[in-house]
This record gives sequence, structure tokens and C-alpha cells, in this order.
Amino acid sequence: MGTDIYTAVDTYVDGLFGGDDPVLRGALERSAAAGLPAIHVSAGLGRFLHVLALACGARRILEIGTLGGYSTIWLARALPPDGALITLEAEPRHAAVATENVAQADLADRVEVRVGRALDLLDELGREGAGPFDMVFIDADKPPYTEYLHAALRLARPGTLIVADNVVREGKVALGSTDDEAVAGVQRFNAAVAADPRVAAAVVQQVGVKGHDGMAIAVVRDSQPPS
Ligand code: SAH
Ligand code: DHB
Ligand code: MG
Repeated sequence: MGTDIYTAVDTYVDGLFGGDDPVLRGALERSAAAGLPAIHVSAGLGRFLHVLALACGARRILEIGTLGGYSTIWLARALPPDGALITLEAEPRHAAVATENVAQADLADRVEVRVGRALDLLDELGREGAGPFDMVFIDADKPPYTEYLHAALRLARPGTLIVADNVVREGKVALGSTDDEAVAGVQRFNAAVAADPRVAAAVVQQVGVKGHDGMAIAVVRDSQPPS
């Protein structure tokens, strides 16, 4: 994204709050060395997720899409000592890097990395009677985002916070129908979350070191009408 004003503001904010500490930097270095794509959230958005987890008093967090565990560490650091985070990852190579990064962050006692297709693992969590989760972060492949939302709702309680990354995609979501499966997937998700009476939701667009994108933030309502 170069040295535009948005990058300058991210740098400014990281200067005020602290960006990546040595543990997070180490996680990114190990991820890069292992050849993982650099599609993790920015430091500013990692901090934002951390603050949201604290705001909802999260003790149980579910993450869909681990990569090298960068967002995992930001989220898990908001947990109390007896809290737990389960993160779902399809690529064994990504999961192995994440497991090492979580251990280096001293969070292995709170974080479980599960390897498999997220939709299968979400079904498995349902069968196990896992949850309810206090917070769910959706950040895996984009075409099934709506199915991830519905799975998250099955593992939620009134008050659960559901956050989804990448729902703006450089503004492409606003430009109508598209052949891009990722954009189409988040368009379908945005329409679903906006119309679902089980949640109160908003979409927040964001600019910064990762360009122009956004997150959807939804709170599960007290009374859940049937879907
Ligand atoms: N949350 C991470 C970034 C996740 S990138 C962070 O901000 O640090 C998306 C991840 O989802 C990738 O590691 C990719 O392998 C994984 N993924 C893609 N499709 C998946 C699927 N169907 N099930 C589980 N994980 C999937
Ligand atoms: C992509 C995925 C992400 O989760 C992200 O934050 C940025 C990019 C991608 O698949 O291109
Ligand atoms: Mg993302």
C-alpha cells in the first residue's frame, strides 16, 4: 500500500499504542519464513479485536481461519487464565506454524488449534456440545462466510459477539454482481447479517496498511426467532 496517508496514520497509532511487540513480531517472522501469505490482520486491527474481546468479557472464543496465529494471539491475550480459544485451520502447515507461535506467546494452555475444513469442524463442535462462545471471529475462505455465520449462531448465546473480517474488499462489495467468488461470498454474508433478526449488526469500513477493507460486527439478540 506504499506510504500514503492511511499507512502514516497506522504508523502514528502504532507509535502511540505500541504495534507489534517482540512476541507478535516473532510470530510474523516465523510465518513469513514458513512461506505463509501475509494476509493476517494489521496490528491496529489485532488490537481492535483484543479490545472487543475484553469489552464482551470473553472467556470462550472461536476463530475460523488461523493462518500463523497472529490474530489468535491478539484475541487469546484478552482471555482470563481459565479462558479458552479454539481456532480452525484447513492447512496443516499453517496450523503447525500457529501452534508454535501460540506456544512462544505462552498461550498454549488457552488455545487449541484444530485442523480441518471449517464447516466440518463447526459441525464437530456442535456434536460435542461445545460453546456457547462469547466471541466468534470469522476470517477463513470467503465463499462460505454466510454458512460460517449460521454455524456461529448455533454455537452462540444471547450477547455473543460475532466479528467477520474482509467484508468490504477494496469497496468491490458495493459495485454489484461480480464473478469474484470472494466478493460474492461477502456480499451474500453482508446481506444475510443485515437481514437476520437474530443479530444486531453493523459494517465498519477500514483503511490502513492493508488497504481498504472492513469488518462486520454483530451481537446476538436476547430472543432468537427460528431461522
Ligand atoms: N485470522 C488470521 C488470518 C487468516 S487467513 C490472522 O489475521 O492472523 C485465512 C486462513 O483460513 C488461511 O490460513 C487458510 O488456510 C484458512 N482457510 C481457508 N479455507 C479454509 C477452510 N475451508 N477451513 C478452514 N480454514 C480455511
Ligand atoms: C485474504 C484473506 C484475508 O483473510 C485477508 O484478511 C486478506 C486477504 C485473501 O484471501 O486474499
Ligand atoms: Mg482476513
